[in-house]
Amino acid sequence: MSTKTGLLGWIDDRLPVVKAYETHMSKYYAPKNFNFWYFFGAIAMVVLVNQILTGIWLTMSYEPSAEGAFASVEYIMRDVEWGWLLRYMHSTGASAFFVVIYLHMFRGLLYGSYQKPRELIWIFGMAIYLILMAEGFFGYLLPWGNMSFWGAQVIVSLAGAIPVVGEDLALWVRGDFLISGITLNRFFALHVVALPIVLIALVVLHLLALHEVGSNNPDGVDIKKHKDKDGIPLDGVAFHPFYTVHDLVGIAVFLFVFSIVVFYFPEMGGYFIEHANFEPANGLKTPEHIAPVWYYTPFYAMLRAIPDKFGGLIVMGGAIAIMFVLPWLDRSPVKSIRYKGWASKGFIVAFAISFVILGVLGAIPSSDGRTILAQVCTVIYFAFFMLMPFYTKAEKTKPVPERVTG
Ligand code: HEM
Repeated sequence: MSTKTGLLGWIDDRLPVVKAYETHMSKYYAPKNFNFWYFFGAIAMVVLVNQILTGIWLTMSYEPSAEGAFASVEYIMRDVEWGWLLRYMHSTGASAFFVVIYLHMFRGLLYGSYQKPRELIWIFGMAIYLILMAEGFFGYLLPWGNMSFWGAQVIVSLAGAIPVVGEDLALWVRGDFLISGITLNRFFALHVVALPIVLIALVVLHLLALHEVGSNNPDGVDIKKHKDKDGIPLDGVAFHPFYTVHDLVGIAVFLFVFSIVVFYFPEMGGYFIEHANFEPANGLKTPEHIAPVWYYTPFYAMLRAIPDKFGGLIVMGGAIAIMFVLPWLDRSPVKSIRYKGWASKGFIVAFAISFVILGVLGAIPSSDGRTILAQVCTVIYFAFFMLMPFYTKAEKTKPVPERVTG
């Protein structure tokens, strides 16, 4: 029987609401030493909600057809009340999602949050990342601008580089011989129905897996090792009210920055909404410089760095695939970068710099010199992961404290 009375008690006898609230909020003990990097999970949830809500309202006025899509977006921008705000919140939200997710993932790298027993949290996270990339790709076709058209054309045609089945695969994905209204319709279905469902399910699994084992922290110390007489970790604080209030601060700062971008720089100089997308899709007019949106550019740079198209596809796919097995590449006895050796520190810095350089290279036209730089950065990217089993094992680590250091 529930400890509650009244309506809540009645419901609680039939559905474990109080138990769920306690397990995930008031009696979920999180390490007390969370820092800046620990804001981004909560912020990612806010952005997810923003995308879903603005997306639902955009769908009310959007028309998923080759004839009507571009005009319907213009209609949303000019005639639908607050339509411009809905659209800019959604388009800026897409970029914000990736900014937040890249920081969230980097935190995982810094503090070894993917290590045992958090492998599944990481795997679900990687699945989220993949779905998010697909979601962004499908969504980008919907305004039916010229970059929407040519971006999709370039990426879907990549499948053509796969031996034997490639051309048939590209045809199957497009549903036509070139990107057409048929492609637009299926991308719309995937973008607004299929992928959001998968995304939400994965986020739920991500959080269930997290709450099963508990959060890691900047020291990588296991807070469950030291508990008081009631079984509460000495270095833990209840998620609610402590981290709910704490996260609100991060969310408020995020919303402040987000609003500045939405209201003053929604196109972000062509990086959030590309210039060519202010013209309708035109199969006869290729934009001068086709580049994907910034969050794909590191991988696009790798693709272009390899002279052979199929080889490039393998390298690009491999760059993402290798992140899935990260928990089994790190053989360090410690989790956090604070206590790892110089090799880990050097590699993580080199990796982060290479990733950013690749991101820049993927956004600008290529040249011989830039291709070589992209190749060097690609090698560093892979070296970070592939050599990890060796340098994490060989290097000298610092002793990890028994309790968190604050
Ligand atoms: C929609 C996307 C996502 C949402 C809403 C989300 C949400 C969260 C939340 C709320 C937390 C706990 C708070 C925190 O540690 O910041 C968390 C932890 C974590 N997430 Fe995510 N996440 C997302 C994507 C990802 C991705 C793409 C990865 C990595 C590939 C990832 C890896 C992790 C890891 C390893 C932890 C545990 C961190 C620790 O305990 O140190 N997440 N996530």
